[in-house]
Amino acid sequence: MAKTMVILGSQWGDEGKGKIVDLLTRHAQLVVRFQGGHNAGHTLVIDGNKLVLHLIPSGILHEGVKCVLGQGVVISPRALMDEIDLLTNKGIPVLERLLISSAATLVLPYHVALDKAREQAQGAKAVGTTCRGIGPAYEDKVARRALRMVDLMDPEQFEQKLDKILEYHNFVLTQYYHVEPVAKEPILKEAEEARNRLKRVITDVPALLAASYADKANIVFEGAQGALLDIDHGTYPYVTSSNTTAGGVATGSGFGPRFIDEIIGVTKAYCTRVGGGPFPTELKDDIGKHIAQVGKEVGATTGRPRRCGWFDAVAMRRSSQLNSLSWLAITKLDVLDGLKEIKICTRYRYQDQEWDVPPIDAELLAKCEPVYESWPGWQESTQGLRAWDALPVAAQKYLNRLAELVGTPIGMVSTGADRHDTIMLDHFTKQS
Ligand code: GDP
Ligand code: IMO
Ligand code: MG
Repeated sequence: MAKTMVILGSQWGDEGKGKIVDLLTRHAQLVVRFQGGHNAGHTLVIDGNKLVLHLIPSGILHEGVKCVLGQGVVISPRALMDEIDLLTNKGIPVLERLLISSAATLVLPYHVALDKAREQAQGAKAVGTTCRGIGPAYEDKVARRALRMVDLMDPEQFEQKLDKILEYHNFVLTQYYHVEPVAKEPILKEAEEARNRLKRVITDVPALLAASYADKANIVFEGAQGALLDIDHGTYPYVTSSNTTAGGVATGSGFGPRFIDEIIGVTKAYCTRVGGGPFPTELKDDIGKHIAQVGKEVGATTGRPRRCGWFDAVAMRRSSQLNSLSWLAITKLDVLDGLKEIKICTRYRYQDQEWDVPPIDAELLAKCEPVYESWPGWQESTQGLRAWDALPVAAQKYLNRLAELVGTPIGMVSTGADRHDTIMLDHFTKQS
């Protein structure tokens, strides 16, 4: 493995990042989250046992690996403590492996109330957020009024700042959205519990990463969400509120971008999206239903059904450019088993115009029609295959065509949810 590797979603999230991070962590000493919060749901399946992680990095099962939450992550103390409890009850010594940036922004109950109130007020135009308070927490950060981990550690400072911010947000909640205000006491209680439990894992993350790198540690950076949900580069306003693309690694962790060796884009062999927003290759027919059913396409965080569609090489080209992808990790190939015909979107069209990368404007994107090329499917099962040569020739051809259209080589192919159901391509293992 390279010394430093970024693993991120290259579509609209839920590409299988958790599985790939868990797998590649066997070579690492640190796994670092740099953005997002508990809106993420990363699934790990090891020997049939399933685990869904939301805030805690997907390297947590590995002994000798430090799991780090950088300053770009927004942290709900309640969600974090619940996740720590869940994992500790399964015998995982989370607090021995976890480190948290003192500069990370907190997600508190008023953010959740605001997220819900805004979504409700938007009606049909709602983003379809996870209602975890992520957007409002990032707003507070950018507005320079957020409470951070460092405030949590100082009870007086915390209460003083809380009084001010609560007055402001409760005014908006009651006077603008006409919903109930948020009470202070439960927040103080949550803060006290978090202070006692998390004090010893708060640290200076940029200093930790610099020292670890100097010590020749292998570091994995774990993205959440996906490139097309990026606040600057995604299908705005149907996006999340953080930078999910590779540039976010440096800002969200404090690790210098010059030291990043490889960037792996995790992508499904097809496409899904959960929540609102344009999705040119969406299938609203029986094939879409079939993919959703076989792929068990239900949100790992919210339990919402995911919208399904064909692989979108146009969107993936944008993603590859935005992230300077070194490799593709293509997941869920097995879900396409048995289909007669498989389509790949190669261009978009609207009126007399065509696009090789998506138009920036989401309203225009919503009007674009996909232009497809058609590939024969394979009738054999690829489920659990672990060697490229074992794949049906039609599957090999399909995968090679995806890589060609995106302009990025394939490093790994995943053929099942389990950690072991993975094909590592020779050139990937040799170079990485
Ligand atoms: P993440 O958010 O990117 O980590 O992805 P999620 O965990 O939200 O969603 C991916 C889902 O697909 C999970 O249920 C995984 O267990 C599952 N999965 C991952 N890779 C494969 C694969 O190759 N085949 C199949 N059938 N399922 C997979
Ligand atoms: P992982 O890391 C898929 C989507 C929501 C919504 C939009 C904004 O598991 O891939 P937010 O709550 O972030 O303000 O919602 O982003 N979204 C995700 N979709 N996977 C995720 O995470 C997501 N996190 C947020 O559905 O459309
Ligand atoms: Mg997910």
